[in-house]
Amino acid sequence: MAKERTFAMLKPGVLQRRIAGEIVTRLERKGFQILAMKLMTIPRELAETHYGEHAEKPFFGDLVGYVTSAPVLAMVLEGEEGISRLRLLCGATKVEQALPGTIRGDYATQTQLNIMHASDSPESAAREIGLFFKDEEICEYEDGNGEWF
Ligand code: PPS
Repeated sequence: MAKERTFAMLKPGVLQRRIAGEIVTRLERKGFQILAMKLMTIPRELAETHYGEHAEKPFFGDLVGYVTSAPVLAMVLEGEEGISRLRLLCGATKVEQALPGTIRGDYATQTQLNIMHASDSPESAAREIGLFFKDEEICEYEDGNGEWF
């Protein structure tokens, strides 16, 4: 096993529904260490770059419109096999496939408002962390909890 950093974003709707704390708690309970966290309204250009691989998809405009519509909570998380494990915790993209017990399964009601993004590969994680955070905004610290996770 290896520690990996990944990028997570709680999307518009989470703050309005007052569930940001609950979701962050679930990430921490699963052992993710928060290295960076930023509340921000994403500029359109950043959203288009972040989701650039989907530019040709029919939902691209709706997706960019959604993520720029209100503030998001962007995070850098670290954990053992963090990229794949965060995707598991997040749950399937399509709301009808997101299992209960996953974050989307428990909180998302529509695919186009699926409340959370998580990087899908090491390449995406590195790219997305770099898009949203400067190196000096990522806090490295020893939490002494290694043996428990
Ligand atoms: S695909 O087509 O399989 O590559 O797309 P997918 O990886 O499932 O989803 C990519 C991101 O697009 C969002 N998405 C949508 N947004 C709006 N409307 C519709 N219909 C839609 N379908 C997918 C999906 O939530 C993914 O965003 P993130 O932030 O990565 O979860």
